[in-house]
Amino acid sequence: MDIPNIIQRKAPDFGFDDSLPKYWFAGDPFKTRFFDAMSTMFPEGEKYFIRSVRAYREQITDPDMKQAVSDFIYQEAQHSIAHGLFNDRLKAQGINVDKFEQAMRGYLNFVSKYLPASVNLANTAAAEHMTAIISHIWTRDDIQRDSDPRMRALLYWHGVEEIEHKAVAFDVLQQVAKAGYLTRILTMAYETVSFPLSVHLFMDEMLRVDGFSGWERTRMWANGLRWLYGPQGLMHSLLPSYLSYYRPDFHPWQEGQMETYHQWRQAYESTGNAIAAADMGKSLPH
Ligand SMILES: [Fe+2]
Ligand SMILES: [Fe+2]
Repeated sequence: MDIPNIIQRKAPDFGFDDSLPKYWFAGDPFKTRFFDAMSTMFPEGEKYFIRSVRAYREQITDPDMKQAVSDFIYQEAQHSIAHGLFNDRLKAQGINVDKFEQAMRGYLNFVSKYLPASVNLANTAAAEHMTAIISHIWTRDDIQRDSDPRMRALLYWHGVEEIEHKAVAFDVLQQVAKAGYLTRILTMAYETVSFPLSVHLFMDEMLRVDGFSGWERTRMWANGLRWLYGPQGLMHSLLPSYLSYYRPDFHPWQEGQMETYHQWRQAYESTGNAIAAADMGKSLPH
C-alpha cells in the first residue's frame, strides 16, 4: 500500500474576507450550511482528538509512532486554526458560532473526563476513519467543484492531511491502548448516529438564523436529505469503505484511492498555493 509520510504544513492562507459568498457552495443554502456546521464543530472536535491521542503519548516507545503522533497533533491544530478563521466569517453573518462551540466543548469535556481513555481514543479513531473515507472519495469526485475556490481549497487541504494521518489514532488504539474489537465497533456505531445528528441540528439552526421559515426549511430538508442519503446521494458512495471498519482485520491503509492525494501534493509543493493545488483534481475522470 502507498503510505505517505506525514508532513507538518503551516495552514495556508485561504484569503477569507467579505467577498466570500454567504452560500459559497453552488449558491445553495442547504449544502453550504451542511459544510458550515461541520466547520463549527472542527476546532473543538480536533482539540478532543488531540487530547485523546496525547493521553497515550508517554506510553509510546516506538520512535516512528511518537513522530506520527507529533505530526498528527500539529496537523489537527492547524486545521482548528484554519477553520477558526473561516468560522469568523460565519460570525459576521450572524451565526452564533460561540454557542455551538460551547455546546461541543461542554459535551467533549464531559466525555473526556468520565469515559475511559481507551474509549475516547476509539471515538477519535472512528471519527478519523469517517474523515479519511470522506477525503478519499470526495476529492476523487471533486464534490466541491461548484463552490468558492477558497473554501474548496480549505476542504481539499484538510482532506489531504486527513488522508496522511488517517492511521495514527487507529495504530495507537490497537498497539498501545490495546482496545478490543467491541470498543472499536461500538464507538463507531455511536459516532455514526451522534456526528450527523449534531451536524443536522447545527445546520438547521443556521438556516433558521438565515431567515428561512419552517415550511421553507422542511422543503430544503426533503431535498437535502435526498442529496445526502438518497440512492445517488453523497453518503452512498461512502458506504463500502465505511462498513470496512467493522471487519475484525481492518486497517486504515488497506484501502482508499491516492491519485488525488499525490496530485494535490505535487501541485502544492511546486506552487505553494492551496487554491491552485485544489484545482489540479478538477480534471480527474470520475
Ligand atoms: Fe482535521
Ligand atoms: Fe484527523
